[in-house]
Amino acid sequence: MEPLSLDRRRILLGVTGGIAAYKTAELVRRLRVAGAEVQVVMTEAATRFITPLTLQALSGRPVRTELWDTAAEAAMGHIELARWAERILVAPASADFLAKLRAGRADDLLTTLCLAADAPTAVAPAMNRCMWEHPATRENVAALQVRGVQVWGPDRGSQACGETGPGRMLEAAELHRCVIEWLQPGPLSGVDLLITAGPTREAIDPVRFLSNRSSGKMGYAVARAAAEAGATVTLVSGPCALEPPSKVKLVRVESASEMYTAVMDRAVEQAIFIGAAAVADYAPAASRPEKIKKDARTMRLELVKTPDILAAVAALEKRPFTVGFAAETDHLKQHARAKLERKGLDMIAANQVGGGLGFEAEENRLWVLWPEGERHLPTTSKLELARQLLALIVERYEAKNSVQDSR
Ligand code: CTP
Repeated sequence: MEPLSLDRRRILLGVTGGIAAYKTAELVRRLRVAGAEVQVVMTEAATRFITPLTLQALSGRPVRTELWDTAAEAAMGHIELARWAERILVAPASADFLAKLRAGRADDLLTTLCLAADAPTAVAPAMNRCMWEHPATRENVAALQVRGVQVWGPDRGSQACGETGPGRMLEAAELHRCVIEWLQPGPLSGVDLLITAGPTREAIDPVRFLSNRSSGKMGYAVARAAAEAGATVTLVSGPCALEPPSKVKLVRVESASEMYTAVMDRAVEQAIFIGAAAVADYAPAASRPEKIKKDARTMRLELVKTPDILAAVAALEKRPFTVGFAAETDHLKQHARAKLERKGLDMIAANQVGGGLGFEAEENRLWVLWPEGERHLPTTSKLELARQLLALIVERYEAKNSVQDSR
């Protein structure tokens, strides 16, 4: 017998108030037939459109509706339920729910779960076409997408309110197909990927160091995108204030030489290496064991070059697919291509620094170059950009492997 496509996958299905809630019954049935475990959570408004009893019978689990239900909380507390969920799908998602999700509200069980859960989330909006087209909803949807929430639909067509236009929730069969696609193993599943991120700190004495403006945001976003694509990700990070993305193994380091050791200890086992860290190019020749006193009128700091981690990985005999970054103030493509060739990389992602873009900014844009080609990724959030960059890495990594396999 063919294995069920959603065998024991744990889906938390949120239902909010809207006439399309009747389609959810059929969706629950289909997900169950495909083998999924479905926990339905309804808002108070949803219960006015379809009864919890219907969805309970179809899902085979008591439907949760309230945050303050002591009996249900005793069986599985809401934080536990948030952790249980492998995926969250909210269908239908009303305009009000999208606004709350965007704002990070937690005033009922469903919004609380969405805020507490780490699981990837999708929404299937359903509303009157004017509500869907309202700038407030447009902004909410765009912000959620940037945050990584998938938005499925809506469809166009005749609506329960008598109007015609966009706002109809996708049909159950369509949503079922989206869920199956969503739960397929990612293109990098089973692939080991190592990434460096953040700045390094080069000690001058026990209290002072040399460092740079890197926030680590781009590297952490690439690590997250790689984990989303199914890779087994190790993130070697210099000091930064960011939370590591979920399912990513974090190795904290301080200096360029510590980063070098952490990377070289692991590099040969990796299929892909991405050097996104802003590694200090020079470090003090010797770090003083005691704090330097300000006695002298002038002082000289002797600096020595740090090991080039990226070039060292690229030079390994059995080396991973190697991707570097380049931050340039001028002649972006020219300098980046020279770096690609000099370090013998498979790919380089170049960004312009200065003019509000680069290190501490929320957005960025990239020129991505590889030996046979190049592509421009226009300005967007660092997470979205990281996802696009990762898709390109997957494309080139697969192309390189298929050439090697055919030899
Ligand atoms: N890199 C590294 N180890 C170093 C220095 C840089 O791994 N010691 C990596 C960075 O992670 C990044 C790329 O190399 O992927 C940047 O290359 P680099 O030549 O150092 O860039 P710039 O510092 O911009 O160089 P230059 O000053 O020559 O433009």
